[in-house]
Amino acid sequence: MSYEFPPGFEWGVATAAYQIEGAIAAGGRKPSVWDTFSALPGRILQGATGAIACDHYHRYAEDVKWMAELGIKHYRFSLAWSRIIPDGRGSVNETGIDFYRRLLDCLQHYGITPHATLFHWDSPQALEELYGSWQSRDMAQDFADYATAVVSRLGDRITSWMTINEIVCFTHIGYDVNRIPVHAPGTSVASLKQVWQTSHHALLAHGLACQAIRAASPGPCSVALVDNFVPTVPLTESAADIAAARQAFHLHGTNGGILEPALTGAYSPALLAQLGENAPEIRDGDLAIVHQPLDWIGFNSYFGTYARAAETPAGYEVLPFPQGYPQLNMPWLHFVPDCLYWGIRHLSETLNRPDLPVRVTENGCAGQDSLTEAGEVLDSDRILFLRQYLRSAHRAIQEGYPLQGYFAWTLMDNFEWAYGCDRRFGLLYTDYETQRRIPKASFHWYRECIRQNRVV
Ligand code: NOJ
Repeated sequence: MSYEFPPGFEWGVATAAYQIEGAIAAGGRKPSVWDTFSALPGRILQGATGAIACDHYHRYAEDVKWMAELGIKHYRFSLAWSRIIPDGRGSVNETGIDFYRRLLDCLQHYGITPHATLFHWDSPQALEELYGSWQSRDMAQDFADYATAVVSRLGDRITSWMTINEIVCFTHIGYDVNRIPVHAPGTSVASLKQVWQTSHHALLAHGLACQAIRAASPGPCSVALVDNFVPTVPLTESAADIAAARQAFHLHGTNGGILEPALTGAYSPALLAQLGENAPEIRDGDLAIVHQPLDWIGFNSYFGTYARAAETPAGYEVLPFPQGYPQLNMPWLHFVPDCLYWGIRHLSETLNRPDLPVRVTENGCAGQDSLTEAGEVLDSDRILFLRQYLRSAHRAIQEGYPLQGYFAWTLMDNFEWAYGCDRRFGLLYTDYETQRRIPKASFHWYRECIRQNRVV
């Protein structure tokens, strides 16, 4: 099999503001919850913060040159809310906007199309102090106002918008019951209901922002949500296991309470029954706001969970990973290449949205990368990982699913949240001492895929 992709398939890379920009006090930016959180002792591995990260704020031109060198035509990045509206609501900091204008002009110079995420977890600290961030319904309206501010200023340069990245990661991992949450803002709450309330508010923010983007855009644009739902992968592709995987999908992780309402207009009834009094308060009209028409969906694909038919009351079981199952350098990053194909198929079949174009907005892995004496990074593990996931993407296209593009995570090693700078996901190796970028073997390999428009 030659694993060739259709003409026009979009090859890209993805990044996020807090993970690469640094320059946290430059040009009028004020703190985000991640600045506050990462400054707390013990929260981030080796005490790292995003204060400098890859210093992309100052080095964006070099970084865009690397993108051109890689041969990508599509770049997904995020905008920092607290650079643009430093207090979270109220006046717009035009200096912050100017930074993104410079970046966008540079991308345009190299013929690279920008795809912008409005929110990748770094909400303004001011709103945390004002009303506890996502605990408050007010956050949704403030986010929509921020969307209006951005799109009315940058809509001449950006037409591909994503509202929010991975709702679960700043809600169910940022707020927790009886445990210290692993992500910012790191708030302990009294009940699971309160946790679900934060993700419900984020869904509202997504819905209001879709409306705001369309209203503010000076020309036609496309709008998407980016989610890291967890695909249930049938253990065998027998009809019974496939049916089991479809059934299991709704109750797995937060699938039925985040992706499902966004794409279908209703929380999974099975999930609501399971949550009982822990279900969020959903006011009249909320689901209509949450369920906005989307032009495409962004799928961040990393791992999945195996499911099979079984004689349980539900008729299926979800399987734990056996001891020694292949895994990359993150506790959650099991090697499940088929999850990319099954994720796309579930969107079509299980959530009944075969109409919705898909982009894989992230896919990648952390390795224990190091420089050889000759100055190379020989990350054959990353090549293995990406090659197999891309083959799975190819299968989805072969079978007629509407996959349009693929963004590798990530351009360069960066601030990996609670894991600081210890876990390297980049195609470029970042030498944090000198800020030198060094292409890894996977960079050369991915460039060849792009050049040949197939998995090599
Ligand atoms: C998904 C997140 O969007 C991104 O910020 C993170 O670095 C990667 N997963 C890897 O953990």
